[in-house]
Amino acid sequence: MSSVQKVRKAIFPVAGLGTRFLPATKSIPKEMLPIVDKPLIQYAVEEAIAAGIETLIFVTSRKKHTISDHFDQAFELETRLAASGNSELLDTIRNIIPSHITRAEVPQIEPLGLGHAVNCARELVGDEPCAIILADDLIKSRGKGCLQQLISQFEIGGNSVLAVQRVADEDTGRYGIIEPTIDGCQLNSIIEKPNPENTPSNLAVVGRYILTPEIFPKLDIVANQASGEIQLTDAIALLLEDQIVEYCEFEGRRYDCGSKAGFIEATVDYALERADLRDKVLAHIAATVSKGTA
Ligand code: G1P
Repeated sequence: MSSVQKVRKAIFPVAGLGTRFLPATKSIPKEMLPIVDKPLIQYAVEEAIAAGIETLIFVTSRKKHTISDHFDQAFELETRLAASGNSELLDTIRNIIPSHITRAEVPQIEPLGLGHAVNCARELVGDEPCAIILADDLIKSRGKGCLQQLISQFEIGGNSVLAVQRVADEDTGRYGIIEPTIDGCQLNSIIEKPNPENTPSNLAVVGRYILTPEIFPKLDIVANQASGEIQLTDAIALLLEDQIVEYCEFEGRRYDCGSKAGFIEATVDYALERADLRDKVLAHIAATVSKGTA
């Protein structure tokens, strides 16, 4: 039997300000914005559960009770839907999270960056590997979900695994960028948002990570040195001094739903996959394109 520990817990950092989507995100978190009719956070949670995650840890700001409301039982709504015999809708709002899944929340009082958010979940993670999912990176895979692909790779060697994809050279300044080893799927180095002139590659980290618990002391070191945001990437760079860190060029299409263009692309693509919407949306796009203007 493999001695590699099972990845049972996933951290969802959801305390960001969502400034790129203001005013929509003035009172709701950006993770609650819907692609068609399902909020981004639900896609992320479903990907985690499909990958075998048993504990969901939301790192929230004080204003983000809408996320826990979304996953809580909605007694009044359920009663009304049941009374009106609308069992299909009832099913879509009931059991979003199966009963064997544990849900926990931890506050991130100050917005000090992704590394800080992950460190807030430390006590709940304990001494075991964990997944990190950034819900605004929405990933549509044909087969296994992105997180499941990372976990399968983790189970082979027990090393941390980062999801990466190739980006255009001019976009490297928007991501954590890895320098891969010549062979194998390991990192030589990692750097946060390098200038395109200095980038070690165009392999960009997207929002799925499996990390060993040794990441937490590294986050403390970064926190002690940081003057601004506490970057998860900087802690991974320190982890690399002691441990192998691997990358996975996953199968799947990633939508950057933290950007308006990516959000709209996701909306169109997910709508086109829906039997109830496909024809209407296609007809609208065709008519718009043929007119040459919206
Ligand atoms: C964060 C990480 C970055 C990673 C990106 C993926 O950046 O710091 O390394 O490439 O997520 O979406 P952010 O998008 O929060 O600036």
